[in-house]
Amino acid sequence: MKRSALVVVVMVLFVFLGVSLAQASPKKRFDPGTQTCRIFDKDSTWWGNGAEIFRNNCKSCHFRGNDKGAPFLYSESKSSRAWNRVFFKKYPECAQDGSWGNLTLEDQLVLNDYLYRNANDTYDPNDADDCG
Ligand code: HEC
Repeated sequence: MKRSALVVVVMVLFVFLGVSLAQASPKKRFDPGTQTCRIFDKDSTWWGNGAEIFRNNCKSCHFRGNDKGAPFLYSESKSSRAWNRVFFKKYPECAQDGSWGNLTLEDQLVLNDYLYRNANDTYDPNDADDCG
């Protein structure tokens, strides 16, 4: 009896720990480049503008098996923070050699929103936004 009570307590603890450790999908992000808070709307979803900008620009090189020397990239290749760094620092070679040339600032912000929202650390099955 005592042992089974302990098992129940441990199980309950795991459930609570699991829920509190999982990060719910973000609803907004701070953009360090423009010093603004961006509230997400449908453009940051996989069927919105951000995803389309990603497909039409970045994916022209960053697809699997490309011969341009570009690593395969999708939204879950990086964490939210790492995607923010990509757009804030513009450290990738392709950002500096003009390959992002036809992207306006607004395009970059929307694209950053999409990648941030769908990064590798933002899926939470306990959040209705993610599975409901
Ligand atoms: C013309 C082709 C081309 C386009 C378009 C392009 N890239 Fe790249 N990208 C590359 C190549 C090639 C590299 C690898 C450069 C190197 O060796 O460092 C790279 C590297 C990167 C990296 C660093 C790789 C890593 O694993 O961290 C990131 C991040 C990145 N690109 C993001 C983007 C994003 C976001 C876009 C769209 C806005 C984009 N790229 C568009 C060719 C491209």
